[in-house]
Amino acid sequence: MPVNKISIIGAGRLGSLTGYEIVYRELAKEVVLIDIIKNLPQGEAMDLNQMASEKGKSTYAKGSNDYKDIAESDIVVITAGFARKPGMTRLDLLKQNAPIVRDVASQVAKYAPNSIVITVTNPMDVMTYVTYKVTGFPRERVIGMGGQLDSARYREILASMFNVSRSSVKALVIGEHGENMLPLARFSYIGGLRASDILSEDKIKEAEESTRKIAAEVIALKGATVFAPISCIASLIEAIVKDTKEIIPASVYLNGEYGLTDICIGVPIVVGRKGVEKIIELNLNEEEKLRFYKGAETIKNAINEIKAIAII
Ligand code: NAI
Repeated sequence: MPVNKISIIGAGRLGSLTGYEIVYRELAKEVVLIDIIKNLPQGEAMDLNQMASEKGKSTYAKGSNDYKDIAESDIVVITAGFARKPGMTRLDLLKQNAPIVRDVASQVAKYAPNSIVITVTNPMDVMTYVTYKVTGFPRERVIGMGGQLDSARYREILASMFNVSRSSVKALVIGEHGENMLPLARFSYIGGLRASDILSEDKIKEAEESTRKIAAEVIALKGATVFAPISCIASLIEAIVKDTKEIIPASVYLNGEYGLTDICIGVPIVVGRKGVEKIIELNLNEEEKLRFYKGAETIKNAINEIKAIAII
C-alpha cells in the first residue's frame, strides 16, 4: 500500500530523480517537489506526470515553491543545497549547506510534524544532526542516507574483484559518510564467506581505498553522482512504506550506542514503517574502532564549527 504523501525538498538532480523513482515504484499517492527556484519543481512535476501517464502509474506529482504543500507528508526527503564540485570533499559544503538545511528542517517541523525525514544533503551526517536538532523529532523519525550508498559501492568493488555476481555479495560500510567511512570486510560476505577470510590484507586495503574514493571519481568524470544515490533513497523509502524491517546502514542520532552520544553517524539500523526501529551494535575490533571514532571526531568537530557560528 502506498503512503499518502512523500515530499522532496530540493528539485535538482537527486530530488527530481527521486521523484521519478517514487512514481515508478508507486510508493505514494502523491509526491510533492519543493524548490526555491521558481517554475523548476512545477516543470519537473509536469514531466513526471506525463511519464506516469505513459507507464500507467497512479502516483500524482505536484511542484511548488510553497511549504504549505508538504502538509501531512508521511515522508520528507531533504536534497536541498549545494553539491560538491570536482576536487571538493563533502565537508567543504558545511557552511554553505548548514543554514539551508536548518531553514528547510524548520519548515518541515512546521508543516509536516508527523513525517519521517530522510536527509541526503552533504555533509550528510552533520546535516542529519541539524535536521534532528531543528525539527525536534524523535530520533526514530530522522534518517541520513549515506552508508547504504557506500555499501552499494563496496559491493560493486568486491563483486568485480572476485568476478562474481553483485547479488552474491553482501557488503557493509558504516561510520562517517565521508573521508573516514568504514568498509567492513569482517562483516561483508562473498557467497557466505567472510570477505576478510578470503581476501589478502592488500586486497582488503585496496577495496577500502577504492570505496572511499569512488564517488569523487564519478564527480570528476560526470560532475555529480546521481543514479546510485537516488536508487538508495528510493529503496530506503520503500523499506519504510512497505515496513520491510530491512537492515540498512544509515546515519542516526546515537544516544550511548557505540559509546557515542549527541552525534549522527552511520550504523546498521532496522527500517520499518516507524522509521528507525532498531539500532544494531556491531562488535568492532580495535582497528575498526580507530577509523569509526576518527569519523565520529570529524563529525563532532563539524557540528561544533556550525554551533560556534550560531547556525544551530
Ligand atoms: P542540485 O544542485 O542538482 O540540486 C539541489 C537543489 O536544491 C537545487 O535545485 C536548488 O535550487 C535547491 N535548493 C537550494 N536551496 C534550497 C532551499 N533553501 N530550499 C529548497 N531548495 C533549495 O544538487 P544534487 O546533485 O541534487 O545534490 C543535492 C545534495 O545531495 C548535495 O548536497 C549533494 O552533495 C548531496 N548528495 C548526497 C549524497 C548522499 O549519499 N547522502 C549522494 C549524492 C549527493
